[in-house]
Amino acid sequence: MEVNGKHFQTVWMENGIVKMINQPLLPHQFEIVSYSTCADTANAITTMVVRGAGAIGATAGFAMAQAVREATLSADFRSKLLKMREIIIQTRPTAQNLFYAVNRVFRAVEELPPEKAILVADQVAQEIAKEDALDGENIGKIGAELISDGMRIMTHCNAGWLGFVDWGSALSPIYAASRQGKKLFVWVDETRPRLQGARLTSWELINEKIPHAIIADNAAGYFMQKGEVDMMIVGADRVALNGDVANKIGTFEKALLANYFRIPFYVAIPPSTIDKDCPDGAAIPIEERSNDEVLYGYGISDDGITGRIRLAPAQAAARNPAFDITPAALISGFITPTGIVTPDQIKDVI
Ligand code: MRU
Repeated sequence: MEVNGKHFQTVWMENGIVKMINQPLLPHQFEIVSYSTCADTANAITTMVVRGAGAIGATAGFAMAQAVREATLSADFRSKLLKMREIIIQTRPTAQNLFYAVNRVFRAVEELPPEKAILVADQVAQEIAKEDALDGENIGKIGAELISDGMRIMTHCNAGWLGFVDWGSALSPIYAASRQGKKLFVWVDETRPRLQGARLTSWELINEKIPHAIIADNAAGYFMQKGEVDMMIVGADRVALNGDVANKIGTFEKALLANYFRIPFYVAIPPSTIDKDCPDGAAIPIEERSNDEVLYGYGISDDGITGRIRLAPAQAAARNPAFDITPAALISGFITPTGIVTPDQIKDVI
C-alpha cells in the first residue's frame, strides 16, 4: 500500500517488536504503533487497532512469536506457551486466519528446544505474513480478469490493504484492474456500526485514486434496482467446507439483493480463511460486540475535535452481531490466489 507515496504494510515485526497501522485513528490520522509483548499485541487485536481477517492472522502469528520469546524466560516453557496461545486465541472468535496462524506457529515449535523455538517461530510468523501479502496480490491478478472497463462494483466493509498485510482480498482485483488502466467506479457500503467502509475502504480508494461513493448500508438495493451495480465483491472472515461464508454483518442481505437482481456476487479469499473443520455456516462462531458501537458514533467535528457522541436515547438497548452467514447458494464464485472456483469446489482450495 502507498500512503503519501511511501510503501507501508498494515502489520509487520522487527526484532520481536510488532508494528502496525493504528486503524481506529483512520482516516483522520495516520500513526504506527509498536508492541513489544505478546499480551499487548493480543490486546491490539481485541481492541481492533488491527482488524480484518488476514491482518488479524498475521498479527496473531507475530504475537505467537513474541509468546515463544517470553515463554523461554519461564521455568516451564510449554505451559507458559500454552497459556499465551490461549490469550491470543481468545482475542476474537470469527476470523479463521487467526486460528490458522496461531496453530501454524505453535505446531512448528512445540517439539523444539526453547532457543531454537524462538528462531523458528519468528521465521514461520514472517512466512505467514509474506504469504498473506502474496495471496492478496495473486487474488488481484486473477480477480481483475472478471472486471471490464467501465464496471461499477459494490463492496462491503474493508477487505483491502488494511484488512490484510498488503493488497487485500475483495479490493485487490479492483486495484489490479485500475492499474491495468480500466476505468472503474466503486460503491462503498458505509458498514455500520464501525464504518470500515466509510472510514477505511474510502481512505484506501482515495490513496489509489479510484472514483467511488460511500452509501448508507440500506441504499444498496436502491442502486442495484436502478441498474447501477454490475458486480459485487466482498471478503470473508471464515469459509465453511460447503461454501457458506461468514463476513461483516450486512453481507448476507447484500448477497440476497444481488441474487434477486442477477448481479454476480464474488467472495475473495486466501486459503487461510477456509476452515477445514467446519462443515457449514451454522458452525461458525459469530462475534457479538459491545452495544455501544451501535448506540454511539465516533468521529471528528468540523473544528477538528475527535470524540464519540451518543446517537440513541439514554435508555435504549441494542444488539451488535459483527458478522453474518451468506449461504453458498447466493455466491457466484470465490476468487482465490490460484483461480476462481464455485462454492462446491472450495474444499479443493485448501
Ligand atoms: O470486524 P473486522 O473489521 O475485523 O471485520 C472483518 C472484515 O473486515 C470483514 O468482514 C471483511 O469483509 C473480510 S476480512 C478483511
